[in-house]
Amino acid sequence: MEGNIFEKILGQDSLFLDRKAFDHAFEPTTLPHRDREVEALVRNLVDALNGHIPSNMLLYGVPGSGKTVVTRFVLGQLGEKGREMGQPVRTYEINCRQVDTRYRVVQTLATKLSQRGDVPIPFTGWPTDRVLEHLVERMDRAGGVHIIVLDEIDNLVERAGDNLLYNLTNLNTILKRSRCCIIGISNDLHFTQLLDPRVSGRLGQEDLIFHPYGASEITDILTERAKTGLREDVLEQGVVQLCAALAAQEHGDARRALDLLRISVQKAEQRSQTKVDPRHVRLAQSQLEHDQVTPVLQTLPLHQKLVLFSIRINEDNGLRNISTGEVYRTYSDACLNVNVEPLTPRRISTLLNELDTLGMIMARNVSKGRGGRSKQVNSAIPKTVDAITTMSDADPLIAEAARCRYRLQSHL
Ligand SMILES: Nc1ncnc2c1ncn2[C@@H]1O[C@H](COP(=O)(O)OP(=O)(O)O)[C@@H](O)[C@H]1O
Ligand SMILES: [Mg+2]
Repeated sequence: MEGNIFEKILGQDSLFLDRKAFDHAFEPTTLPHRDREVEALVRNLVDALNGHIPSNMLLYGVPGSGKTVVTRFVLGQLGEKGREMGQPVRTYEINCRQVDTRYRVVQTLATKLSQRGDVPIPFTGWPTDRVLEHLVERMDRAGGVHIIVLDEIDNLVERAGDNLLYNLTNLNTILKRSRCCIIGISNDLHFTQLLDPRVSGRLGQEDLIFHPYGASEITDILTERAKTGLREDVLEQGVVQLCAALAAQEHGDARRALDLLRISVQKAEQRSQTKVDPRHVRLAQSQLEHDQVTPVLQTLPLHQKLVLFSIRINEDNGLRNISTGEVYRTYSDACLNVNVEPLTPRRISTLLNELDTLGMIMARNVSKGRGGRSKQVNSAIPKTVDAITTMSDADPLIAEAARCRYRLQSHL
Protein backbone atom coordinates (compact mmCIF):
# COMPACT_ATOMS: atom_id res chain seq x y z
CA MET A 1 0.00 0.00 0.00
CA GLU A 2 1.42 3.34 -0.95
CA GLY A 3 1.72 6.16 1.55
CA ASN A 4 -0.04 6.45 4.87
CA ILE A 5 -3.45 4.76 5.03
CA PHE A 6 -5.07 7.85 6.58
CA GLU A 7 -3.95 10.10 3.77
CA LYS A 8 -6.73 9.32 1.32
CA ILE A 9 -9.53 10.07 3.79
CA LEU A 10 -7.70 12.96 5.42
CA GLY A 11 -7.20 14.75 2.14
CA GLN A 12 -10.88 14.41 1.22
CA ASP A 13 -12.99 17.47 1.55
CA SER A 14 -15.82 16.75 3.94
CA LEU A 15 -19.35 17.61 2.89
CA PHE A 16 -19.91 18.75 6.46
CA LEU A 17 -19.03 22.23 7.55
CA ASP A 18 -19.68 21.42 11.18
CA ARG A 19 -20.64 17.89 12.17
CA LYS A 20 -21.64 19.04 15.65
CA ALA A 21 -24.66 20.76 14.14
CA PHE A 22 -26.17 17.29 13.81
CA ASP A 23 -25.38 16.12 17.36
CA HIS A 24 -28.44 15.48 19.49
CA ALA A 25 -27.09 17.94 22.06
CA PHE A 26 -26.62 20.77 19.56
CA GLU A 27 -28.48 23.92 20.55
CA PRO A 28 -29.64 25.87 17.51
CA THR A 29 -30.05 29.62 17.82
CA THR A 30 -33.26 29.72 15.81
CA LEU A 31 -36.23 27.46 16.37
CA PRO A 32 -38.55 27.62 13.37
CA HIS A 33 -42.25 27.00 14.08
CA ARG A 34 -41.92 27.12 17.84
CA ASP A 35 -42.59 30.84 18.38
CA ARG A 36 -45.86 30.19 20.19
CA GLU A 37 -44.26 27.70 22.59
CA VAL A 38 -41.24 29.93 23.24
CA GLU A 39 -43.54 32.83 23.96
CA ALA A 40 -45.74 30.85 26.34
CA LEU A 41 -42.69 29.86 28.37
CA VAL A 42 -41.31 33.40 28.33
CA ARG A 43 -44.60 34.96 29.44
CA ASN A 44 -44.71 32.66 32.43
CA LEU A 45 -41.04 32.64 33.39
CA VAL A 46 -40.62 36.41 33.18
CA ASP A 47 -42.20 36.45 36.64
CA ALA A 48 -38.94 35.06 38.00
CA LEU A 49 -37.22 38.27 36.90
CA ASN A 50 -39.93 40.41 38.51
CA GLY A 51 -39.51 38.68 41.85
CA HIS A 52 -42.70 36.61 41.52
CA ILE A 53 -43.17 32.86 41.32
CA PRO A 54 -43.86 31.57 37.81
CA SER A 55 -46.64 28.97 37.52
CA ASN A 56 -45.67 25.35 37.34
CA MET A 57 -45.96 24.04 33.82
CA LEU A 58 -46.50 20.79 32.02
CA LEU A 59 -45.15 20.42 28.49
CA TYR A 60 -46.43 17.60 26.33
CA GLY A 61 -45.69 16.32 22.86
CA VAL A 62 -44.47 13.36 20.84
CA PRO A 63 -40.73 12.65 20.86
CA GLY A 64 -38.80 14.96 18.56
CA SER A 65 -41.32 17.80 18.73
CA GLY A 66 -38.78 20.22 20.22
CA LYS A 67 -39.75 20.21 23.91
CA THR A 68 -36.23 19.87 25.29
CA VAL A 69 -34.57 22.21 22.83
CA VAL A 70 -37.19 24.93 23.30
CA THR A 71 -37.03 24.71 27.10
CA ARG A 72 -33.22 24.87 27.11
CA PHE A 73 -33.24 27.85 24.80
CA VAL A 74 -35.68 29.78 26.98
CA LEU A 75 -33.91 28.90 30.23
CA GLY A 76 -30.58 29.91 28.71
CA GLN A 77 -31.97 33.32 27.85
CA LEU A 78 -33.62 33.62 31.24
CA GLY A 79 -30.33 32.91 33.01
CA GLU A 80 -28.56 35.46 30.84
CA LYS A 81 -31.13 38.16 31.52
CA GLY A 82 -31.16 37.39 35.24
CA ARG A 83 -27.40 37.83 35.50
CA GLU A 84 -27.61 41.05 33.54
CA MET A 85 -30.27 42.39 35.92
CA GLY A 86 -28.40 41.21 39.02
CA GLN A 87 -31.37 38.94 39.77
CA PRO A 88 -29.92 35.49 39.41
CA VAL A 89 -32.42 32.76 38.58
CA ARG A 90 -31.22 29.25 39.26
CA THR A 91 -32.29 26.63 36.76
CA TYR A 92 -31.85 22.88 36.96
CA GLU A 93 -32.54 20.38 34.22
CA ILE A 94 -32.89 16.76 35.17
CA ASN A 95 -33.55 13.99 32.70
CA CYS A 96 -35.70 11.46 34.50
CA ARG A 97 -34.79 8.70 32.10
CA GLN A 98 -31.24 8.92 33.46
CA VAL A 99 -31.96 10.08 37.00
CA ASP A 100 -34.82 7.69 37.48
CA THR A 101 -35.85 7.51 41.12
CA ARG A 102 -37.33 10.00 43.57
CA TYR A 103 -34.25 9.67 45.76
CA ARG A 104 -31.82 10.32 42.95
CA VAL A 105 -33.71 13.38 41.70
CA VAL A 106 -33.75 14.96 45.14
CA GLN A 107 -30.12 13.96 45.74
CA THR A 108 -29.06 15.43 42.40
CA LEU A 109 -30.80 18.74 43.10
CA ALA A 110 -29.35 19.00 46.61
CA THR A 111 -25.88 18.18 45.31
CA LYS A 112 -26.11 20.88 42.63
CA LEU A 113 -26.75 23.34 45.48
CA SER A 114 -23.92 22.15 47.70
CA GLN A 115 -21.21 24.45 48.97
CA ARG A 116 -17.85 23.77 50.55
CA GLY A 117 -18.22 22.27 53.98
CA ASP A 118 -21.64 20.66 53.28
CA VAL A 119 -22.05 16.99 54.14
CA PRO A 120 -21.98 15.05 50.89
CA ILE A 121 -25.28 13.29 50.28
CA PRO A 122 -24.67 9.67 49.24
CA PHE A 123 -26.09 8.23 46.01
CA THR A 124 -28.21 5.85 48.05
CA GLY A 125 -28.86 4.97 51.63
CA TRP A 126 -30.43 7.95 53.37
CA PRO A 127 -34.16 8.16 53.95
CA THR A 128 -35.50 10.33 51.10
CA ASP A 129 -37.15 12.72 53.54
CA ARG A 130 -33.78 13.51 55.07
CA VAL A 131 -32.40 14.37 51.63
CA LEU A 132 -35.45 16.56 51.04
CA GLU A 133 -34.75 18.47 54.24
CA HIS A 134 -31.24 19.20 53.03
CA LEU A 135 -32.59 20.31 49.68
CA VAL A 136 -35.00 22.76 51.31
CA GLU A 137 -32.23 24.13 53.53
CA ARG A 138 -29.91 24.65 50.61
CA MET A 139 -32.58 26.24 48.42
CA ASP A 140 -33.33 28.73 51.18
CA ARG A 141 -29.65 29.37 51.74
CA ALA A 142 -29.28 30.28 48.07
CA GLY A 143 -32.50 32.31 48.06
CA GLY A 144 -34.26 33.65 44.95
CA VAL A 145 -36.24 31.63 42.45
CA HIS A 146 -35.33 28.05 41.55
CA ILE A 147 -36.65 26.62 38.32
CA ILE A 148 -36.59 22.84 38.18
CA VAL A 149 -37.11 21.14 34.84
CA LEU A 150 -37.98 17.45 34.99
CA ASP A 151 -37.55 16.19 31.45
CA GLU A 152 -39.14 12.87 30.39
CA ILE A 153 -40.94 12.84 33.74
CA ASP A 154 -43.47 10.29 32.42
CA ASN A 155 -40.71 7.68 32.68
CA LEU A 156 -40.19 8.16 36.37
CA VAL A 157 -43.84 8.44 37.31
CA GLU A 158 -44.79 5.35 35.36
CA ARG A 159 -42.38 3.27 37.36
CA ALA A 160 -42.11 5.02 40.69
CA GLY A 161 -45.41 6.86 41.13
CA ASP A 162 -46.00 10.55 41.70
CA ASN A 163 -44.52 11.01 45.20
CA LEU A 164 -41.64 13.04 43.84
CA LEU A 165 -44.02 15.45 42.14
CA TYR A 166 -46.09 15.63 45.28
CA ASN A 167 -42.98 16.66 47.24
CA LEU A 168 -41.63 19.11 44.71
CA THR A 169 -44.92 20.88 43.96
CA ASN A 170 -45.36 21.25 47.71
CA LEU A 171 -41.99 22.94 48.28
CA ASN A 172 -43.32 26.49 48.18
CA THR A 173 -45.29 25.86 51.35
CA ILE A 174 -42.09 24.87 53.16
CA LEU A 175 -39.48 27.22 51.68
CA LYS A 176 -38.92 30.41 53.70
CA ARG A 177 -36.41 32.49 51.80
CA SER A 178 -36.74 31.17 48.28
CA ARG A 179 -39.36 30.05 45.78
CA CYS A 180 -39.51 27.30 43.21
CA CYS A 181 -41.24 26.51 39.96
CA ILE A 182 -41.52 23.05 38.42
CA ILE A 183 -41.60 22.41 34.69
CA GLY A 184 -42.50 18.83 33.81
CA ILE A 185 -41.91 17.56 30.27
CA SER A 186 -43.67 14.45 29.02
CA ASN A 187 -43.64 12.44 25.79
CA ASP A 188 -46.86 10.78 26.89
CA LEU A 189 -49.98 12.81 26.18
CA HIS A 190 -51.99 10.95 28.79
CA PHE A 191 -49.44 11.58 31.47
CA THR A 192 -51.74 13.36 33.91
CA GLN A 193 -53.90 10.25 34.13
CA LEU A 194 -51.01 8.71 36.07
CA LEU A 195 -51.17 11.47 38.65
CA ASP A 196 -53.17 12.03 41.76
CA PRO A 197 -55.61 14.89 41.00
CA ARG A 198 -53.98 17.06 43.68
CA VAL A 199 -50.60 16.65 42.03
CA SER A 200 -51.87 17.15 38.49
CA GLY A 201 -53.70 20.30 39.60
CA ARG A 202 -50.56 21.78 41.10
CA LEU A 203 -48.21 20.72 38.33
CA GLY A 204 -50.43 21.54 35.40
CA GLN A 205 -51.18 25.15 36.31
CA GLU A 206 -50.25 25.82 32.71
CA ASP A 207 -50.24 23.19 29.99
CA LEU A 208 -48.34 23.61 26.78
CA ILE A 209 -48.81 21.20 23.89
CA PHE A 210 -46.14 20.72 21.26
CA HIS A 211 -47.85 19.57 18.08
CA PRO A 212 -46.07 17.06 15.86
CA TYR A 213 -44.24 18.80 13.03
CA GLY A 214 -45.62 18.53 9.51
CA ALA A 215 -43.42 17.88 6.49
CA SER A 216 -43.08 21.54 5.53
CA GLU A 217 -42.15 22.56 9.06
CA ILE A 218 -39.46 19.88 9.17
CA THR A 219 -38.23 21.09 5.79
CA ASP A 220 -37.64 24.53 7.33
CA ILE A 221 -35.85 23.06 10.34
CA LEU A 222 -33.58 20.97 8.12
CA THR A 223 -32.86 23.84 5.75
CA GLU A 224 -31.84 26.01 8.68
CA ARG A 225 -29.61 23.28 10.12
CA ALA A 226 -28.01 22.53 6.77
CA LYS A 227 -26.85 26.14 6.59
CA THR A 228 -24.82 25.68 9.76
CA GLY A 229 -23.77 22.09 9.29
CA LEU A 230 -23.21 21.47 5.59
CA ARG A 231 -21.12 22.98 2.83
CA GLU A 232 -23.05 24.99 0.35
CA ASP A 233 -24.64 23.21 -2.61
CA VAL A 234 -24.01 19.64 -1.45
CA LEU A 235 -27.70 18.75 -1.31
CA GLU A 236 -29.41 17.83 -4.57
CA GLN A 237 -32.95 18.97 -5.21
CA GLY A 238 -35.50 17.09 -3.13
CA VAL A 239 -33.15 15.67 -0.48
CA VAL A 240 -34.38 17.85 2.35
CA GLN A 241 -38.01 17.36 1.27
CA LEU A 242 -37.62 13.59 1.21
CA CYS A 243 -36.03 13.49 4.69
CA ALA A 244 -38.84 15.72 5.93
CA ALA A 245 -41.57 13.62 4.33
CA LEU A 246 -40.20 10.37 5.75
CA ALA A 247 -39.89 11.84 9.23
CA ALA A 248 -43.33 13.40 9.03
CA GLN A 249 -44.77 9.95 8.41
CA GLU A 250 -43.12 8.89 11.65
CA HIS A 251 -45.19 11.15 13.90
CA GLY A 252 -43.37 14.34 12.81
CA ASP A 253 -40.12 13.66 14.60
CA ALA A 254 -37.48 16.35 13.96
CA ARG A 255 -34.78 14.20 15.57
CA ARG A 256 -35.45 11.45 13.08
CA ALA A 257 -35.29 13.94 10.21
CA LEU A 258 -31.95 15.34 11.36
CA ASP A 259 -30.55 11.81 11.74
CA LEU A 260 -31.76 10.93 8.25
CA LEU A 261 -30.10 13.97 6.74
CA ARG A 262 -26.83 13.37 8.61
CA ILE A 263 -26.65 9.71 7.59
CA SER A 264 -27.56 10.58 3.97
CA VAL A 265 -24.58 12.92 3.84
CA GLN A 266 -22.35 10.25 5.36
CA LYS A 267 -23.55 7.76 2.74
CA ALA A 268 -22.52 10.17 -0.01
CA GLU A 269 -19.15 10.76 1.66
CA GLN A 270 -18.48 7.05 2.05
CA ARG A 271 -18.97 6.72 -1.69
CA SER A 272 -16.67 9.68 -2.32
CA GLN A 273 -19.53 11.57 -3.94
CA THR A 274 -19.71 15.32 -3.77
CA LYS A 275 -23.50 15.63 -3.84
CA VAL A 276 -26.17 14.05 -1.70
CA ASP A 277 -29.14 12.76 -3.70
CA PRO A 278 -32.42 11.01 -2.81
CA ARG A 279 -30.83 7.59 -3.23
CA HIS A 280 -28.58 8.35 -0.27
CA VAL A 281 -31.67 9.24 1.73
CA ARG A 282 -33.19 5.84 0.91
CA LEU A 283 -30.00 4.15 2.07
CA ALA A 284 -30.03 6.20 5.26
CA GLN A 285 -33.66 5.32 5.87
CA SER A 286 -33.01 1.60 5.61
CA GLN A 287 -30.00 1.89 7.90
CA LEU A 288 -32.10 3.67 10.51
CA GLU A 289 -34.84 1.04 10.22
CA HIS A 290 -32.27 -1.68 10.50
CA ASP A 291 -30.70 -0.09 13.58
CA GLN A 292 -34.13 0.25 15.17
CA VAL A 293 -35.40 -3.25 14.53
CA THR A 294 -32.27 -5.33 15.09
CA PRO A 295 -31.94 -4.87 18.87
CA VAL A 296 -35.66 -5.61 19.29
CA LEU A 297 -35.35 -8.85 17.32
CA GLN A 298 -32.27 -9.87 19.27
CA THR A 299 -33.84 -9.38 22.67
CA LEU A 300 -37.30 -10.87 22.12
CA PRO A 301 -38.07 -13.69 24.58
CA LEU A 302 -37.78 -17.21 23.13
CA HIS A 303 -41.47 -17.84 22.45
CA GLN A 304 -41.89 -14.43 20.81
CA LYS A 305 -38.95 -15.30 18.60
CA LEU A 306 -40.51 -18.68 17.76
CA VAL A 307 -43.83 -17.04 16.85
CA LEU A 308 -42.15 -14.47 14.64
CA PHE A 309 -39.99 -17.17 13.12
CA SER A 310 -43.15 -19.15 12.28
CA ILE A 311 -44.72 -16.14 10.59
CA ARG A 312 -41.58 -15.42 8.60
CA ILE A 313 -41.09 -18.94 7.24
CA ASN A 314 -44.70 -19.00 6.11
CA GLU A 315 -44.15 -15.68 4.37
CA ASP A 316 -40.96 -16.96 2.78
CA ASN A 317 -43.12 -19.77 1.47
CA GLY A 318 -45.39 -17.21 -0.19
CA LEU A 319 -48.23 -17.02 2.30
CA ARG A 320 -49.81 -13.63 3.21
CA ASN A 321 -52.49 -12.74 5.76
CA ILE A 322 -51.62 -15.77 7.81
CA SER A 323 -54.33 -17.04 10.12
CA THR A 324 -53.54 -17.47 13.80
CA GLY A 325 -54.33 -21.18 13.39
CA GLU A 326 -51.63 -21.48 10.78
CA VAL A 327 -49.17 -19.52 12.90
CA TYR A 328 -49.91 -21.83 15.80
CA ARG A 329 -49.44 -24.95 13.71
CA THR A 330 -46.00 -23.89 12.52
CA TYR A 331 -45.09 -22.62 15.97
CA SER A 332 -45.95 -26.00 17.55
CA ASP A 333 -43.84 -27.76 14.93
CA ALA A 334 -40.95 -25.44 15.68
CA CYS A 335 -41.28 -26.10 19.42
CA LEU A 336 -41.33 -29.84 18.74
CA ASN A 337 -38.23 -29.53 16.58
CA VAL A 338 -36.23 -27.82 19.28
CA ASN A 339 -37.70 -29.71 22.25
CA VAL A 340 -39.49 -26.80 23.83
CA GLU A 341 -42.94 -27.13 25.39
CA PRO A 342 -45.36 -25.05 23.26
CA LEU A 343 -47.53 -22.43 24.97
CA THR A 344 -51.32 -22.57 24.64
CA PRO A 345 -53.08 -20.92 21.65
CA ARG A 346 -54.45 -18.38 24.08
CA ARG A 347 -50.96 -17.32 25.19
CA ILE A 348 -49.87 -17.15 21.56
CA SER A 349 -52.73 -14.80 20.86
CA THR A 350 -51.37 -12.51 23.60
CA LEU A 351 -47.85 -12.79 22.21
CA LEU A 352 -49.17 -11.79 18.77
CA ASN A 353 -50.70 -8.67 20.29
CA GLU A 354 -47.39 -7.85 21.93
CA LEU A 355 -45.49 -8.31 18.66
CA ASP A 356 -48.03 -5.99 17.07
CA THR A 357 -47.42 -3.34 19.73
CA LEU A 358 -43.67 -3.64 19.16
CA GLY A 359 -44.26 -3.02 15.46
CA MET A 360 -42.85 -6.41 14.43
CA ILE A 361 -46.10 -7.62 12.89
CA MET A 362 -49.42 -6.21 11.78
CA ALA A 363 -52.41 -8.12 13.01
CA ARG A 364 -55.96 -7.42 11.95
CA ASN A 365 -59.26 -8.92 12.93
CA VAL A 366 -61.43 -10.23 10.14
CA SER A 367 -64.98 -11.37 10.50
CA LYS A 368 -65.79 -14.87 9.35
CA GLY A 369 -69.55 -14.47 9.08
CA ARG A 370 -72.05 -15.56 11.75
CA GLY A 371 -70.30 -13.24 14.19
CA GLY A 372 -67.14 -15.33 14.21
CA ARG A 373 -63.90 -13.42 14.16
CA SER A 374 -60.37 -14.45 13.47
CA LYS A 375 -57.05 -12.74 13.22
CA GLN A 376 -54.71 -12.46 10.28
CA VAL A 377 -51.09 -11.46 10.59
CA ASN A 378 -48.28 -10.21 8.38
CA SER A 379 -44.79 -9.38 9.50
CA ALA A 380 -43.94 -5.68 9.52
CA ILE A 381 -40.17 -5.91 9.51
CA PRO A 382 -38.42 -3.81 6.86
CA LYS A 383 -37.34 -5.76 3.79
CA THR A 384 -33.72 -4.86 4.39
CA VAL A 385 -33.67 -6.84 7.65
CA ASP A 386 -33.19 -10.61 7.61
CA ALA A 387 -35.22 -11.41 10.71
CA ILE A 388 -34.52 -15.15 10.86
CA THR A 389 -30.75 -14.72 10.60
CA THR A 390 -30.78 -11.91 13.18
CA MET A 391 -32.78 -14.02 15.64
CA SER A 392 -30.66 -17.10 14.91
CA ASP A 393 -27.47 -15.19 15.68
CA ALA A 394 -28.94 -14.11 18.99
CA ASP A 395 -30.38 -17.49 20.00
CA PRO A 396 -29.01 -20.95 19.08
CA LEU A 397 -32.49 -22.49 19.46
CA ILE A 398 -33.80 -20.35 16.62
CA ALA A 399 -30.79 -21.35 14.54
CA GLU A 400 -31.69 -24.96 15.24
CA ALA A 401 -35.36 -24.39 14.41
CA ALA A 402 -34.30 -22.76 11.15
CA ARG A 403 -32.38 -25.89 10.13
CA CYS A 404 -35.47 -28.14 10.49
CA ARG A 405 -38.20 -28.93 7.98
CA TYR A 406 -41.80 -27.79 8.22
CA ARG A 407 -45.10 -28.80 6.67
CA LEU A 408 -46.18 -25.41 5.41
CA GLN A 409 -49.49 -24.54 3.84
CA SER A 410 -48.95 -23.88 0.17
CA HIS A 411 -50.35 -20.65 -1.14
CA LEU A 412 -52.95 -20.62 -3.85
N1 LIG B 1 -38.09 24.08 15.94
C1 LIG B 1 -36.90 23.50 15.87
N2 LIG B 1 -35.86 24.11 15.28
C2 LIG B 1 -34.65 23.55 15.19
N3 LIG B 1 -34.38 22.33 15.66
C3 LIG B 1 -35.36 21.64 16.26
C4 LIG B 1 -36.67 22.19 16.41
N4 LIG B 1 -37.44 21.29 17.03
C5 LIG B 1 -36.67 20.23 17.27
N5 LIG B 1 -35.42 20.43 16.81
C6 LIG B 1 -34.32 19.48 16.87
O1 LIG B 1 -34.87 18.17 16.81
C7 LIG B 1 -34.28 17.31 17.76
C8 LIG B 1 -35.34 16.84 18.73
O2 LIG B 1 -35.81 17.92 19.52
P1 LIG B 1 -36.05 17.76 21.09
O3 LIG B 1 -36.24 19.09 21.67
O4 LIG B 1 -34.96 16.92 21.68
O5 LIG B 1 -37.41 16.95 21.06
P2 LIG B 1 -38.25 16.37 22.28
O6 LIG B 1 -37.61 16.85 23.56
O7 LIG B 1 -39.63 16.91 22.07
O8 LIG B 1 -38.20 14.87 22.12
C9 LIG B 1 -33.17 18.10 18.43
O9 LIG B 1 -31.97 17.80 17.77
C10 LIG B 1 -33.56 19.54 18.18
O10 LIG B 1 -32.41 20.35 18.06
MG1 LIG C 1 -36.72 15.71 25.04
